[in-house]
Amino acid sequence: MERTFVMVKPDGVSRGLTSEILSRFEKKGYSLVGAKLLQMSEDLAQTHYEEHKERPFFNTLVAFITSGPVFAMVLEGEGVIAEARKMIGATDPKEAVPGSIRGDLAIKKSENVIHGSDSPESAVREISLYFNEDELIGNKAAQNV
Ligand code: TYD
Ligand code: MG
Repeated sequence: MERTFVMVKPDGVSRGLTSEILSRFEKKGYSLVGAKLLQMSEDLAQTHYEEHKERPFFNTLVAFITSGPVFAMVLEGEGVIAEARKMIGATDPKEAVPGSIRGDLAIKKSENVIHGSDSPESAVREISLYFNEDELIGNKAAQNV
């Protein structure tokens, strides 16, 4: 079954939007198979966003994403990678349609409340950056037997 990585960013956590965001994915029908609240290190932030390391916003992005706790989760379900991106909406909340998470809950591109993997390859990479195999429900090692 397909899995993706989704993360409520520090602005979303501090604004108390974690449960609302999780609720949207659960109501849609996706299952939570892993979750944790964590404080990202600068190393993890740079690795996560390494595709953007030459971009002018990179340092600001790393500073923002490490500025407070994030809520990382793995969601499972049919077509979840592309569908979660649709539910999240455009990178710039001003362009994100109403009804999408960013369209409803954010204003600024630099503080857009949520991250979601953009492809199957990114999903595998990002899940493994944040979670061990035995932290994901459904994986054999997570059954605690
Ligand atoms: P990107 O991967 O392009 O967007 P998305 O999160 O939709 O996959 O960019 C990663 C994050 O970098 C984005 O969520 C917010 C930040 N960012 C800026 O602050 N300014 C920008 O111009 C861009 C493109 C992104
Ligand atoms: Mg991206």
